[in-house]
Amino acid sequence: MRTQVGIVGAGPAGLLLAHLLHRAGIESVILEAKSRQHVEERIRAGLLEQGTVDILTETGLGDRLHREGLPHEGIELRFDGQGHRIDLHGLTGRRVMIYGQQEVVKDLIAARLAQGRPLLFEVEEVALHDLDSDCPRITFRHGGAETMLHCDVIAGCDGFHGICREAIPAGVLKIYERAYPFAWLGILAAAPPASHELIYARHERGFALATMRSNTLARHYIQCRPEEDVAAWSDDRIWAELHARMADRDGHSPIKEGPILQKGVTAMRSFVVEPMRHGRLFLAGDAAHIVPPTGAKGMNLAVADIIVLARALEAFYRGRGMALLDAYSATALRRVWKAQRFSWWMTSLLHRFDGADPFEHKVQLAELDYVCSSAAASLTLAENYVGLPLETG
Ligand code: FAD
Ligand code: DHB
Repeated sequence: MRTQVGIVGAGPAGLLLAHLLHRAGIESVILEAKSRQHVEERIRAGLLEQGTVDILTETGLGDRLHREGLPHEGIELRFDGQGHRIDLHGLTGRRVMIYGQQEVVKDLIAARLAQGRPLLFEVEEVALHDLDSDCPRITFRHGGAETMLHCDVIAGCDGFHGICREAIPAGVLKIYERAYPFAWLGILAAAPPASHELIYARHERGFALATMRSNTLARHYIQCRPEEDVAAWSDDRIWAELHARMADRDGHSPIKEGPILQKGVTAMRSFVVEPMRHGRLFLAGDAAHIVPPTGAKGMNLAVADIIVLARALEAFYRGRGMALLDAYSATALRRVWKAQRFSWWMTSLLHRFDGADPFEHKVQLAELDYVCSSAAASLTLAENYVGLPLETG
């Protein structure tokens, strides 16, 4: 079997790459370890930057996104029991959109299948070979048969736990990493959202975020211990904690209760490998970097990597050589590090750090006050939140 670009992983990164390449007349094969149902039902991120919305719209994937997505023009930061609105649109002229990652994934899979292009689910034993040569190969098992896929280039879009990053010889990659002493307990509930905009709350009991998936589906997160056992969190305990962290000075909570449909704990980590390339293997998305979820940069960053990589591959196949592919890692990493900085900063601003001394505590509150009262500081938050301009090379 032969293709131009072998893509490992059918998350947002791999699927979008295949979609952009197809539109540029470049062939690819996507290999995915899980079933279609599994990847379509995996609940993860939900907030799309305007640049992410724009690329999906421009490439024919905007119909359901604009019908069902919820555009947002501001967010609320809540501390000391008081809400402060950050007017994202007024400050930047840009919006964000609530539309679940799994909905983006469903739209991309539907488009790929409608194009009749190869997307293989439940592939096993994926291994990469000859990455230093001009004809790298992928071996895998599918439907009981061993297959070899010859490629010009391999895109490693297989997420944080994938095999592509591990296929790079020891000593090549430099790893930058930070673990956080907390995690998020996330719920999906059949309840209206707490408010028409997202609420990020800093509270003595810990951070809480009230977001949504639709006007009848609320998504909420609360800061918890990294090793937290979901079983220890009854529905009543979750609602009580959300009310406590979201309440205003009069004790009124904006949270509306309803049946909890799903619960899960998400670890918090910052992680980057450099370079995002080895020979003919290019890493993109979570395979190369992870951000803590505060500020919702994870999926948007995967999309930005892919735009840069797709343009570089298009230049390569149009006979313009390797220059943009050679620049891919450095170009992508400039944005990755700015998103890392922002996600780390939003996380530090809003979470409860056990062991923080009273001075650090006061500095955190002063920073929140500054962000909400200074036009310059509000703009700094807003321009990062809606997504910095895309640099492609
Ligand atoms: P992934 O979506 O991880 O896709 C990788 C794909 O590769 C998967 O389908 C996987 O099955 C497949 N794969 C893995 N190994 C192999 C293999 N050996 N062979 C073939 N296929 C393989 N971000 C936010 O911004 N906000 C959030 O609220 C948020 N919540 C999250 C909650 C959870 C539980 C997790 C795990 C992540 C969350 N993220 C969030 C991050 C965001 O979802 C990711 O940044 C995004 O999914 C990255 O897309 P990706 O395509 O790079 O990787
Ligand atoms: C969502 C998640 C985030 O981490 C965030 O900062 C905003 C929204 C969400 O799942 O909707």
